[in-house]
Amino acid sequence: MRSVVNSCWLLLGSTLCISHVALANPVQQRDSDYFMPNSTGFRMQHGFETVLVQPFGYDGFRVRAWPFRPPTGNEVSFIYDPPIEGPEDGKAHGTSFDTAFNGNRSIAIRNGNTLVRTSGNSGNPGGYRLAFYRVEQNGTETLLTNEYAPLKSINPRYYSWSGSGSEFSAEFSFSTTPDEQVYGTGTQQDHLVNKKGSTIDLINYNTFIPTPVFMSSKGYGFVWNMASEGRMEFGPLRNRFTARVATVVDYAITSAHPGDYDTLQRRLSAMTGRAPTPPDWSLGYIQSKLRYENQTEFILLAQNFKERKIPVSMFVIDYQSWAHQGDWALDPRLWPDVESMSKKVKELTGAEIMASLWPSVSDNSVNYLEMQANGYLSATRDGPGITDSWNGSYIRNYDSTNPEARDFLWKTLKRNYYDKGIKNFWIDQADGGSLGEAYENNGQSTYIQSIPYALPNSNYFAGTQFGVGKLYPWAHQQAIEEGTRNATSTEMGSPCDHISLSRSGYIGSQRFCSMIWSGDVSAVWETLGLQIASGLSAAATGWGWWTMDAGGFQPDPTVPWSTDIDRPEYRELYIRWFQWSTFVPFMRTHGQRVCAHQNAYTCPNEPWSYGEENTPTIVSYIKLRYQLAPYLRAVFNQFHKTGRMIMRPLYMDFEKSDPNIGRMTQQNTNVTTQQYMFGPNLLVSPVTLPNVTEWSVYLPRTQGDTETPWTYWWTNQTYAGGQTVTVPAPVEHIPLFHLGARNDILKGNIFK
Ligand SMILES: *[C@@H]1O[C@H](CO)[C@@H](O)[C@H](O)[C@H]1NC(C)=O
Ligand SMILES: *[C@@H]1O[C@H](CO)[C@@H](O)[C@H](O)[C@H]1NC(C)=O
Ligand SMILES: *[C@@H]1O[C@H](CO)[C@@H](O)[C@H](O)[C@H]1NC(C)=O
Ligand SMILES: *[C@@H]1O[C@H](CO)[C@@H](O)[C@H](O)[C@H]1NC(C)=O
Ligand SMILES: *[C@@H]1O[C@H](CO)[C@@H](O)[C@H](O)[C@H]1NC(C)=O
Ligand SMILES: *[C@@H]1O[C@H](CO)[C@@H](O)[C@H](O)[C@H]1NC(C)=O
Ligand SMILES: *[C@@H]1O[C@H](CO)[C@@H](O)[C@H](O)[C@H]1NC(C)=O
Ligand SMILES: *[C@@H]1O[C@H](CO)[C@@H](O)[C@H](O)[C@H]1NC(C)=O
Ligand SMILES: *[C@@H]1O[C@H](CO)[C@@H](O)[C@H](O)[C@H]1NC(C)=O
Repeated sequence: MRSVVNSCWLLLGSTLCISHVALANPVQQRDSDYFMPNSTGFRMQHGFETVLVQPFGYDGFRVRAWPFRPPTGNEVSFIYDPPIEGPEDGKAHGTSFDTAFNGNRSIAIRNGNTLVRTSGNSGNPGGYRLAFYRVEQNGTETLLTNEYAPLKSINPRYYSWSGSGSEFSAEFSFSTTPDEQVYGTGTQQDHLVNKKGSTIDLINYNTFIPTPVFMSSKGYGFVWNMASEGRMEFGPLRNRFTARVATVVDYAITSAHPGDYDTLQRRLSAMTGRAPTPPDWSLGYIQSKLRYENQTEFILLAQNFKERKIPVSMFVIDYQSWAHQGDWALDPRLWPDVESMSKKVKELTGAEIMASLWPSVSDNSVNYLEMQANGYLSATRDGPGITDSWNGSYIRNYDSTNPEARDFLWKTLKRNYYDKGIKNFWIDQADGGSLGEAYENNGQSTYIQSIPYALPNSNYFAGTQFGVGKLYPWAHQQAIEEGTRNATSTEMGSPCDHISLSRSGYIGSQRFCSMIWSGDVSAVWETLGLQIASGLSAAATGWGWWTMDAGGFQPDPTVPWSTDIDRPEYRELYIRWFQWSTFVPFMRTHGQRVCAHQNAYTCPNEPWSYGEENTPTIVSYIKLRYQLAPYLRAVFNQFHKTGRMIMRPLYMDFEKSDPNIGRMTQQNTNVTTQQYMFGPNLLVSPVTLPNVTEWSVYLPRTQGDTETPWTYWWTNQTYAGGQTVTVPAPVEHIPLFHLGARNDILKGNIFK
């Protein structure tokens, strides 16, 4: 039984409602055990500043704060109000509150096991400062975090103005302790699962999707619900969030028992969104390369898969397949009959097709004049409005923050692709602002590649790059979601028929039928290792639908064999990377390859392209992926229902049963940045070094006395947890262990 729940939030002056298909009987705490919120909120008028605090979902609070002027009503929010799950009574909405005061006394509100209290300092025992606690089972209160205010320093809620008007910059500081661990924060290429100590700019680039959602080892989760660019800092005593341009500050916090990260994810995803279930076919294998050039080659590709009897779920058409940037149509000179091509591919293999789209529109695109005339293009605050360049043409990005521009994009895609059988879209270069490369004037001079202008301060329908830049990729995913939902007459949240692939995203991107991949990474061993920690951080941010380019995207110019499919060094890296891709949410190869006799933009990247002796190994992983379909279906379903993470850093399942895990996670040792659980039963430790024949793996202690043994997938040898073991890892075997019976895993009988 499913029921439709409407969630609304205020977006750009109008209330936007999204229907969710909610499960009628989600596993939910019974409200009778629950401490109902004892207030609908308080509003603290403290001098020129207003702070509104409301109970929010289970065990959570939402805080909004502003100096002088109230919010404009045009603020963008990424959280559901009220959250998808929460206590039946006391659901605070909008800006409701029942208590108003001026900050001169201490007041408290409790919601479930979380308490917020205002407190002061020696001069003002009442106080305007917020502190958040967890109420323990024995009634004691444990401080989670409070607003950080050492004696005679700047206010923890600090505002500044660079000009007149209602826009301000904000810096909010929260206390932490040196031993706190911080998980999530979107993705950075930094080898870290614990982000403690990091300073992270909230500015998007290719491979870099900083997102202010995190889980703390102290047992709380936090969402900085701001579209603004800015910064996150995780210092020894202070966590600080900066918004460069804002008209309100908005954040939410929720708690759970320490170590209960599944509950934290459940709480966080009730605010930020639950993923729908992916189409069954998408759990298979996705074939892609830079780039299939034309229709003839594409059909030949499908024929090849059929003849070799290699299962495949989707083929991908990359960029430059259009006549001009922003046409959002395949170039008819190269793709003369799209409809018959997609039929043919389907007949041969059953596979779907995905096509790349870029947000960029060049002056010679068929759509340029109409989009310019209607205000569908983003401009820049100064100058001629150009946001980047590509291959010698200046371009402007379409304005994803404008609902009419989203409609225009979708109508064009529908006419040129969807109606002709290509129903999945690759939202490439989605980072916003420019085309997403740091310090690059794309495709202009190869001699000037690193001048320090970061992103243009673009002007959008919804605001500026500084003010709403973080909305751009999210709204771009939304364009494809809305369009596809319209075309299939389905509601958001219901099972997906098609999927998109996005290079970026933001808070709650998991609510769309959209995968996020780790971006254009280089094809070297070190980068392979980096992707593991990146995927684990994506998972903790809420993005379960994660993937990466198996084999790496582009050559590292300092490594002669990088991406060269004829060199044994690269073949080995490719096989190791490919075998790992079996154990991430979506299995997908992609990239630029180097080969003899062809230019670097068309070299092969098919399962049989890496030497005849290696083809059976590559194909064996594709087949294993299809065998795992029931298991995948079960973990994706669970993610849909409760937000239970698919890729699971070891702290999720073993922090309580194995004291080593907490310590190793804190120190970001290779065990915790390079090993993880894929679903509840599989432990994966991808080989990230060349010339390896055996591999050391730390197997966590499972649970005290009733210790469940680990079984090595390739030999069936069992091992007790709590030790490092060395297992044979010839190039055809990825180090993979399982808990429980292999048969149950293959049947997907994994959740009781
Ligand atoms: C707080 O301020 C209010 C309004 O000025 C005043 O009535 C009240 O007595 C003050 N309370 C304390 C505890 O200072
Ligand atoms: C709500 O409950 C908490 C914890 O019992 C208490 O400290 C607080 O004063 C209560 N607040 C209100 C407004 O009743
Ligand atoms: C209450 O429970 C907390 C958390 O389990 C524990 O740390 C604390 O020592 C307990 N306090 C008392 C007085 O039992
Ligand atoms: C299509 O692409 C293939 C492979 O790159 C190439 O050999 C062929 O010449 C192209 N055909 C057309 C019609 O462009
Ligand atoms: C760049 O544009 C030219 C036409 O102006 C085209 O022939 C060429 O293929 C393009 N190259 C790339 C890498 O896009
Ligand atoms: C989807 O349909 C709704 C309702 O007809 C419409 O308002 C919206 O603009 C459409 N969106 C897209 C992207 O087509
Ligand atoms: C461990 O991690 C470091 C980076 O932190 C890396 O350089 C090293 O190669 C890794 N070792 C193994 C065995 O993966
Ligand atoms: C791998 O082994 C081969 C042959 O034993 C050797 O030539 C090569 O240098 C080794 N590569 C690395 C990266 O250690
Ligand atoms: C391991 O056990 C599975 C059944 O659980 C079996 O299919 C497989 O052949 C065994 N592998 C080896 C190497 O014995």
